[in-house]
Amino acid sequence: MTSANSPRKILVTSALPYANGSIHLGHLVEYIQTDVWVRFQKMQGHSVHYVCADDTHGTPIMLRAEKEGITPEALIANVHHEHSADFKDFLVEFDNYYSTNAPENKELSQSIYRKLKAAGKIATKTIEQFYDPVKNMFLPDRFIKGECPKCHAKDQYGDSCEVCGATYNPTELINAYSAVSGATPVRRETEHYFFKLSECEGFLKEWTRSGTLQGEAANKMGEWFENGLNDWDISRDAPYFGFEIPDAPGKYFYVWLDAPIGYMASFKKLCADKGLDFDEYWNADSSTELYHFIGKDILYFHALFWPATLEFSGHRKPTKIFSHGFLTVNGEKMSKSRGTFITARSYLDHIKNPEYLRYYYAAKLNSTMEDIDLNLEDFVARVNSDLVGKYINIASRTAGFINKRFDGKLQPSVDNQVIVELKQSANTIAEAYDARDYGKALREIMRLADIANGYVAEKAPWVMAKQEGQEAMLQQVCSDALEMFRLLTLYLKPVLPKLGSEIEAFLNIAPLTWQSVALPLAQDHTINAYEHLITRIEPKLIDAMTEANKENLQATPAVGVQVVAPVAQAALPEAEYISIDDFTKVDLRIAKIVNAEHVEGAEKLLKLSLDIGEAQPRQVFAGIKSAYDPVTLVGRLTVMVANLAPRKMKFGMSEGMVLAASDERGGPFILSPDAGAIQGMRVK
Ligand code: 2FM
Ligand code: ZN
Repeated sequence: MTSANSPRKILVTSALPYANGSIHLGHLVEYIQTDVWVRFQKMQGHSVHYVCADDTHGTPIMLRAEKEGITPEALIANVHHEHSADFKDFLVEFDNYYSTNAPENKELSQSIYRKLKAAGKIATKTIEQFYDPVKNMFLPDRFIKGECPKCHAKDQYGDSCEVCGATYNPTELINAYSAVSGATPVRRETEHYFFKLSECEGFLKEWTRSGTLQGEAANKMGEWFENGLNDWDISRDAPYFGFEIPDAPGKYFYVWLDAPIGYMASFKKLCADKGLDFDEYWNADSSTELYHFIGKDILYFHALFWPATLEFSGHRKPTKIFSHGFLTVNGEKMSKSRGTFITARSYLDHIKNPEYLRYYYAAKLNSTMEDIDLNLEDFVARVNSDLVGKYINIASRTAGFINKRFDGKLQPSVDNQVIVELKQSANTIAEAYDARDYGKALREIMRLADIANGYVAEKAPWVMAKQEGQEAMLQQVCSDALEMFRLLTLYLKPVLPKLGSEIEAFLNIAPLTWQSVALPLAQDHTINAYEHLITRIEPKLIDAMTEANKENLQATPAVGVQVVAPVAQAALPEAEYISIDDFTKVDLRIAKIVNAEHVEGAEKLLKLSLDIGEAQPRQVFAGIKSAYDPVTLVGRLTVMVANLAPRKMKFGMSEGMVLAASDERGGPFILSPDAGAIQGMRVK
């Protein structure tokens, strides 16, 4: 057991971001919220470990890799690199940032599954699911599209309509089609593995009463209990990018089974690197603390599945789950057309300083699940007024005198009432941080900054500096102001860690902890030269950022949410251009492959029958045999050159050509139009 005097042992996590998209300002609410809390707890002297990882498994990641022509392993390695850089540049300091596709996670997931099975909590059941007969895979609801049964909007997802908000089963969609291949999905039976959540109700009700959840979250749990708990489908059929289920060939763990186990895996790696005791943190009788920061959308997974998984596999449960709300920008959902769907990188490219956003989010955050709004105008005003106008102002108006007139030497303060008041707030501020009410902490800190500024204004050191015989007073006032600045820096350090360490260097002091409240700048302490610490945000930077994100929309790939900058076109020499008239000579058409077969004696060719809306399908020989099984092509749409002169080939006439991409990196990949295109349509 931890004694009253030994440091608390705390393990903290943020939700694992999916490895198929960039980190955006919405994600950052949570990472900043958690990082501030972790930094605060570390400043208290506790032993805190903060772990996270990329959430790498599942169908979207598998399909995105396929689309990019790379392996899922290569995709997740690229994304890991990108995410790690984004977090580092936003000063989100994980003790380990890992991947769910790691050996520790495979071992833990399989061993937890075996324990659940031994505890009688796993069942199998044959269920019917949608299957893509062209792509030969079962389709998650999100990959089935069709017409909304309520409002008849076209191209809606299998689970809900983005136009009218209706939710339904994919079976209810009108003219359903696979978003992967365009084929009509068929129903097919398959055996799935289930975690018997329905048997965990007693345990979960008890656990909910233990004070682990915020009030709102506990109410939500009440609703779920009222509706009854269903067993949880934890398996997916091959092809699937994930971990195989032991003794179940061709079956994989559903991504949400191994994702939270990724918290443990990331920590396990940290234990190996740092010589920590993994079991001390995860055994059922652990006396350490475990906190999960999550968004309210994934409460179901963390408050039902996760504690039940831990309980019935013999592990400890979370001490607390902290859910936060969603981010809106200028009062609305982030939007690509308004340019408010902003990636972490785009923010950094335009605004540069991550601490402005950390400050603004912290000022808006409290311990509830309410949504928070990033109002871009208010963001500029708040940062400029609080950080530049109030806080930094204290040093910029006083440090120069100490440097120039007193060789950087300070006087200790004697009974300065303002300093006393600043110190007295240490507990209030600490309690607010600990309770995740950062808004309250920052309001208190800014109230103190106002008082400190009032002190400087009243003493007016710039007037003293011009008067004879005021030297000692000038040194005292400026020293006192810098002691106030030191305390404010300490209080702001969980939110502004980089600025905090720059100020520590300027003040020539050791890293500030909460204990430093009582350790004032001493007699004859020498500070370093004051250099300008931060600048105001120019509103035009915000405009440039939103404009750039509007433009980026054109280059957004179809799968995932990654936003990439438009690629500059390399100019060709004049002679190599073709005219628009040259281009329009090529009659490109959407073609439906109505038949595809091997050609006896042909090494590379497949014989395709292509329907482009004419009386008879066209016969085309295509050199795509190395990449396609003919049965998988039937029913699929592609693009053909319809006015290519017919050619007599060894195996018969070829009446056109299908378009396919290939080079040394792979292929051929035949082109497909987006869903909605119909055979016979012209491509122009
Ligand atoms: O909702 C999401 O973005 C998930 N990738 C979160 C996973 S959190 C944890 F359980 F792994
Ligand atoms: Zn609808």
